Amino acid sequence: MLIRPTEYRARLEEATEHLKRELGPAPEAALCLGSGLGESSARRSSEVGTLAFDQIPHFPVPAVPGHRGQLILEDVQGGKFCRLLGRVHLYEGLSVQDVVFPVRAIALWGVRTFILTNAAGGIGRGLLPGDLMLITDHLNLLGENPLVGTLGDELGDQFPDMSESYSSELMETAELCASELGVGLKRGVYAAVKGPSYETPAEIRMLSSLGADAVGMSTVPEVIALRQMNRGILGISLITNWAAGLHDGELRHEDVLRVAGRSAQMLARLGIKVIERHLLSGAPGSG
Ligand code: HPA
Repeated sequence: MLIRPTEYRARLEEATEHLKRELGPAPEAALCLGSGLGESSARRSSEVGTLAFDQIPHFPVPAVPGHRGQLILEDVQGGKFCRLLGRVHLYEGLSVQDVVFPVRAIALWGVRTFILTNAAGGIGRGLLPGDLMLITDHLNLLGENPLVGTLGDELGDQFPDMSESYSSELMETAELCASELGVGLKRGVYAAVKGPSYETPAEIRMLSSLGADAVGMSTVPEVIALRQMNRGILGISLITNWAAGLHDGELRHEDVLRVAGRSAQMLARLGIKVIERHLLSGAPGSG
């Protein structure tokens, strides 16, 4: 996408204004649910407003099955949060600026804390399909960075510190909530690759030697964009499969979505519990 900074900024403002007009003041937190993690489409009693991505000006609409594009505002104990169902990926052929557009607009709306989730292949020892992993750090192997160029210039520092991108306070809250729910929660480093083909066994050996515990095709652009805007971030991967070469059998997108679907509800419950506790603690969100 070749777009001038003034035009990109105007689009962001249009989207943000629309969110304010349709949904009112921003909630404190956003729960972004990745591939196949959107749970059932049944309406929840906590919902107080919904917008489809194609109703929000300039929001990119996910094209891949398993990714629904919807923003849902919900009331929980202590306040409100918004649930984002479906994200767009670089592998859909979109630019990195399109990929981060929704989180930038939501951050400009006023959301301070983001829980970003994804489906990932397990590389690290002890990470099994069905496990949840707190992302403690990442490897950006996408060959892209949303802060390249000047589009984000007015949004914050072009050279943000990335040494503590994932909030340790939110990680501790997540561990507490997971143990209350009786859900296991491991920790590890997430490597982001562009895809959409899955990795070769040699690539997985390389990622392992680089320190990756899980591999996926998302999340890192959003984390970088949100770090620039100084937002609080928690990242959680659902391990949907053993990464290539670590187990017999072929890797198929349908299987990844199926495993994601099975654990989607548990992941959403954990995310909402973290948000409730965070809201009730009155924490500022960043850090
Ligand atoms: N590789 C890359 N992305 C993924 C995988 C994987 O094994 N599983 C889910 N998303």
